[in-house]
Amino acid sequence: MQERVMDQAAAKPLAGLLESVCVEQGGEVAAQAEEEFRRGIKRLLGFSPAMYTPGTVPSGGCAVFLGTVSRLQKNSDFADLRPDSGKIPGADGFFIKISGKKMVIAGQNEAGALYGVFRFLALMQTGVARDGFELSETPKSPLRMINHWDDISGSIERGYAGRSIFFRDGRIDYEERRIADYARLLASVGINRISINNVNVRAQAKLLITEEYLGDVASLAAIFRRYGIKIFLSINFGAPWSLGKLPTADPLDPAVAAWWKERAALIYKYIPDLAGFLVKADSEGEPGPFQYNRTHSDGANMLAQAVKPHGGEIVWRCFVYNCAQDWRDPSVDRARAAYDHFMPLDGAFDDSVILQIKFGPYDFQVREPLTPLFGALKKTRHVMELQITQEYTGHQIDLCYLPWLWEDIMRFDTAHGPASTITELVGPYKKGSSFIEGFAAVSNVGLDRNWTGHTLAQANLYGYGRMIWDPSLSAEEIAREWSELSFGPGDTARVIAGLQMSSYPAYEKYNAPFGVCFMVTPHLHYGPNIEGYEFSRWGTYHRADNRAIGIDRTPSGTGYTNQYSPKNAEMFANPSTCPENLILFIHRLRYDYIMKNGETLLQNIYDTHFEGCDEAAAMLEKWKSLKNVLEVEIYESVLDRFERQLVNAREWRDQINTYFHRKTGIADKRGRKIYD
Ligand code: GCU
Repeated sequence: MQERVMDQAAAKPLAGLLESVCVEQGGEVAAQAEEEFRRGIKRLLGFSPAMYTPGTVPSGGCAVFLGTVSRLQKNSDFADLRPDSGKIPGADGFFIKISGKKMVIAGQNEAGALYGVFRFLALMQTGVARDGFELSETPKSPLRMINHWDDISGSIERGYAGRSIFFRDGRIDYEERRIADYARLLASVGINRISINNVNVRAQAKLLITEEYLGDVASLAAIFRRYGIKIFLSINFGAPWSLGKLPTADPLDPAVAAWWKERAALIYKYIPDLAGFLVKADSEGEPGPFQYNRTHSDGANMLAQAVKPHGGEIVWRCFVYNCAQDWRDPSVDRARAAYDHFMPLDGAFDDSVILQIKFGPYDFQVREPLTPLFGALKKTRHVMELQITQEYTGHQIDLCYLPWLWEDIMRFDTAHGPASTITELVGPYKKGSSFIEGFAAVSNVGLDRNWTGHTLAQANLYGYGRMIWDPSLSAEEIAREWSELSFGPGDTARVIAGLQMSSYPAYEKYNAPFGVCFMVTPHLHYGPNIEGYEFSRWGTYHRADNRAIGIDRTPSGTGYTNQYSPKNAEMFANPSTCPENLILFIHRLRYDYIMKNGETLLQNIYDTHFEGCDEAAAMLEKWKSLKNVLEVEIYESVLDRFERQLVNAREWRDQINTYFHRKTGIADKRGRKIYD
């Protein structure tokens, strides 16, 4: 396919400078940085720059220098790159400077150079990179990971953008060009790790770690490697007996440990730089150490011993809870589970184990408080898990711009010490500190032509990479950036960024305001079913009756709030200081409880659902105003989604309002239509 040359007025002033480039040679990631530079200039400015190596530079010299800091230090005389300049980037970072007739892109390593090239191209396109521009950036998160929940059959658990890009009919089967483009997409926002298969490793997927599949996994890894991305494999903890025919998978059984060591040695023969294993154990039916009366540290540490000699790591998920709960027993609180299971193990994990903790104590709900492990763990490496795929946030039918939520997450203060917001805690692990080493998030891509089903949901993938690179970025900056890069700077981008920014609040209002969770259609997780999970085994209740709604998680209830720092425990436990967008997560309140705006809780429930639905209608109208300025395919496909979103929003509004009206018999004070 021919690549489009974009009409990019903003990039033009630099055209003269970009004609000749001196590139420091290196490994395959450096080669990719060079290739992306050449390709990007061609696409943005319509010409291919002449590329030279240091020994072949013509007499007139080159204007642009590209490479790693250490190689550029040897071969050039940039004062900014001297070790004492104070401008040298940290791990995976880059330095860019444009001054007069010279420009440099210097990566701390080859991946840094690649990230620098992508960043430069983006900033040139938006008119930010011009003469006098200088930027030194280092990603705050060392581990920047994407998780695929792709099944080997080709379907994707919680996937809303078509079939898997990796698997088909039980085989690894992909289009090489598509995978390379995906790797480019990810590298362009700094992603450096990817797990390719679902965390639920069932049936044939268990065989991915056998020679039947390893050759194909290696070929896939080779594509990602060029972009500085290492792959993880999700494994099944029970493999020693299901695959290896041992009588047990007990992590303390020497035969089991030996089996994993041997298996790891085989895997690393095929993929010498495999990042390691991702493990969902003792969770939703997956096997794990509990089956053998062992702890999660026993399980994770045993696996760590297998991969560590090869430089590998174990990412171990903390999504461990009792999913066979009795709804009759109000004392069992699923929200407590991650902390109750893992806090006592702080310090017990091997230094090659990284815990992966969902941002909230439930499961990627529209609004949850932060899992109390953040800020509390002090002796355990860990990352935060987010979900880009829109399982509970509209299935990529409804527009729901997730960085809006992530910004709130990043700003949350765990109050465990002086610098204890999530933004401040993100950074390389140090023993004795609560640093969060990075993020993992469930991918939203599939084989759909536009990758994400909903074209505007691309902003969620882009925004994830940007925000974990620099958690101090705002959702609005990212929305603007994505819109300008996708549609060119100007009014269209402004309207689209505005739509993105209004989408999360609208969704939250018609779907699940005030931290109420799981009023959603069971299993499918799209559309309302208010009592769908009320009498189920999953432990996800709101317990609405004719007087009150919510779970009391204060010390007089389940005691969940005590899992937080003393300051936050107190703040959450008191309804007048608890953030209202979480109030029903923490408190059981009567419908006549007076909220901060002076209205009752019930009236607020009615108001938010009417407003959210009106806002969905307004987004549809706004989109229609772009009819003549967008490509037909994009316009029509997004239009169709906004129309379906409105149907969904109406359904939520009417079912929720009717439900509470029927329960309470109290009318909407504004007299709007509620169906009986
Ligand atoms: C949710 C989701 C599952 C997924 C699980 C997980 O429960 O609905 O599909 O397997 O999370 O994170 O492991």
